[in-house]
Amino acid sequence: MNKLKLSLFMLFVATIASASTKCDPIRSKFIGDQIAIFYPSNFDPAANLPSLAFVKEPVETGDISKDWNFTPSFYATGKETYATFPVEKGISLYGTGEVTGSLLRNGKSIELWNTDTPGYQRVNGNRLYHSHPWVLGVREDGTAFGIIADNTWKQKLILNDSIRFISEGPAFRVVVIERKTPQEVVMALTDLVGKINLPPLWSLGYQQCRWSYEPDSRAKEVAEGFISHKIPCDVIWFDIDYMDSFRIFTFDKTKFPDPRGMNNYLHDRGMRSVWMIDPGVKLEKGYSVYDEGKKQDNWVKDAFRKDFVGPVWPGNCVFPDFTGRKTREWWSGLYKNFMATGIDGVWNDMNEPSVFNGPDGTMPTNNWHRGGGDLPAGPHLRYHNVYGMLMVQATMEGILKANPDKRPFILSRSGFLGSHRYGATWTGDNLAIVEHMKMSIPMSINLSLSGQAFNGPDIGGFGQNTSPELFAQWMSMGIFFPFTRGHACKGTNNKEPWNFGPVVEKACQTAINRRYRLMPYIYTLFHEAATTGMPVMRPTFFADIKDLNLRPVDDNFLLGSDLLIIPKWAKNSLIPKGNWRVISINGEESKNDEYQADVLQREGTIIPVGNLIQSTAKYSTDSLTLFVSLDTNGKAEGSLYEDANDGFEYTKGEYCIWTFNADTEDNIVSVVAKQLKGKFKSKPKLFKIKVIENNNVTESSWLRPNQLKVRLIN
Ligand code: NOJ
Repeated sequence: MNKLKLSLFMLFVATIASASTKCDPIRSKFIGDQIAIFYPSNFDPAANLPSLAFVKEPVETGDISKDWNFTPSFYATGKETYATFPVEKGISLYGTGEVTGSLLRNGKSIELWNTDTPGYQRVNGNRLYHSHPWVLGVREDGTAFGIIADNTWKQKLILNDSIRFISEGPAFRVVVIERKTPQEVVMALTDLVGKINLPPLWSLGYQQCRWSYEPDSRAKEVAEGFISHKIPCDVIWFDIDYMDSFRIFTFDKTKFPDPRGMNNYLHDRGMRSVWMIDPGVKLEKGYSVYDEGKKQDNWVKDAFRKDFVGPVWPGNCVFPDFTGRKTREWWSGLYKNFMATGIDGVWNDMNEPSVFNGPDGTMPTNNWHRGGGDLPAGPHLRYHNVYGMLMVQATMEGILKANPDKRPFILSRSGFLGSHRYGATWTGDNLAIVEHMKMSIPMSINLSLSGQAFNGPDIGGFGQNTSPELFAQWMSMGIFFPFTRGHACKGTNNKEPWNFGPVVEKACQTAINRRYRLMPYIYTLFHEAATTGMPVMRPTFFADIKDLNLRPVDDNFLLGSDLLIIPKWAKNSLIPKGNWRVISINGEESKNDEYQADVLQREGTIIPVGNLIQSTAKYSTDSLTLFVSLDTNGKAEGSLYEDANDGFEYTKGEYCIWTFNADTEDNIVSVVAKQLKGKFKSKPKLFKIKVIENNNVTESSWLRPNQLKVRLIN
């Protein structure tokens, strides 16, 4: 830290100290290799534990080593509690969950108080639908640290000359991870807060949503549209208007008289369905969900311990108190009949929870949660940020009970550090504006660096009409995000790809085809995320953590470690050193294309590419093209994960991992394909080798795995 910064920091510390009590001495211990936990002297376990972020309570492994010097200071004022760390010169900060603005978080402040924020307009976009009290710091030499404030209470995270967590709740503990690289920090984070579950393959396909496709015939028309326009699509989404007057777990009898028929219709066409469930339960005697919940006393209470009532879509609603185990079990049970109609996935929306006339669009902070089971009772100030997460946990348990042989898919709007254990997320109500399209890259990367590997924006923009130009640009880039769904607000223009004229339709078709052909690589990345915690979408600086110029880059991004995606709108985008070769995934030439993103393959890698399909119902790895980008020694390597694409047999060894290793001799490239791990019986395969050189592409014919050789043309 230079002198000026140091004195400013000291001044800041002195200012806080004068107005507050310093809460050292602190208790500090290792809870893993180079992972330390720090407790302020005024820590009260009953006000904080059990942790909702951690998968399990950390176990202390010993004293912190003598050379450890990255330690927090804790303070308490009458109103707030703080943990603060100094920030040395040259540190790049990331993470902090779902945030607007640039990728680098230095100089940014956010409020961790989950909020329904249409168009990201509340508090200048400094408070969104998720709370992640988590910071990733990368030093100039590439070594890195991560800080978790294990605190669900309302708080702020301020990043400038210091990293400060300022909470409106009681004193909290913090965990610090020290590693040689930021990648290792992210993986260590997921060792503590969990990894995503391996999703069903269908949820990695393109998905089409609108508020709302109604009646059912309109949803069918949209599904047919994808088929007749030959644009791949896996999922049609059902927003709130399928419900009977917005009563959750009901279907409108006129518009959706036969939900089972609707789902069968999609299944017959190789597609799936996701249906929305909000937390607000219409307050109405005679409505079974209300009656049952009331009888079991399941609702969140107000400050006077009466059922809290607030308006959402159906009018006055009550809200399940998900802090209670019995309430969560009741909620889980509601999914049995719902899922029995053939529904494939669930969309939990409005779960900050959104309350239309409440303070900051939610419940009063002195509402009361009664806990039960493992969680103690507490005010909304404590449980607000985990309300959505607990809801999604209960939803996941319900779906699993209803369909024990299928991997659950849930999309949740609200979340907290660790909520990726239960479902995917999207970045809420963005607008159809260029700024929000561009910002979706840093938003999704920072969520990815905060444990939530399965996320993406509303492609095309949710609010406002989308122009053909914006739609084509957004789709061409958006299909490389982990979660790819087009969505549109009520009252905006039709945002299915064929509504913007033939040029845009073609651009969307090309873009979506690219995603489907890359599916073997993408599925392999999801397996990596589920097993190691490395996110699917990564910041470009991960390719060279010592190149400081790459630290702020957020107009391009990495898909896994081997593909770099540069959207067409990004001009003079910085890319990592080395030989990154532009590839054509499906015959397109991105260099001469108005919309298609450039996709660059890292030297020394092999990417498995599948065939064109209309949906993942037709996904197959029987014939794969291996895109080979050789390094300077003529070598390359890659891998492929395979399993049944759904279900849990893979957890019993029914999967396999192939490795591919290429070598070059006398101008002949040979690839050794080996089935390395797992007992999944994949069908006999044919491979094509496609060697991408700087000026040439050599493609073999279809070959058996033991014959993988091709002579380079030059
Ligand atoms: C708010 C969600 O963010 C949006 O995606 C959805 O369409 C509306 N609620 C209506 O359910």
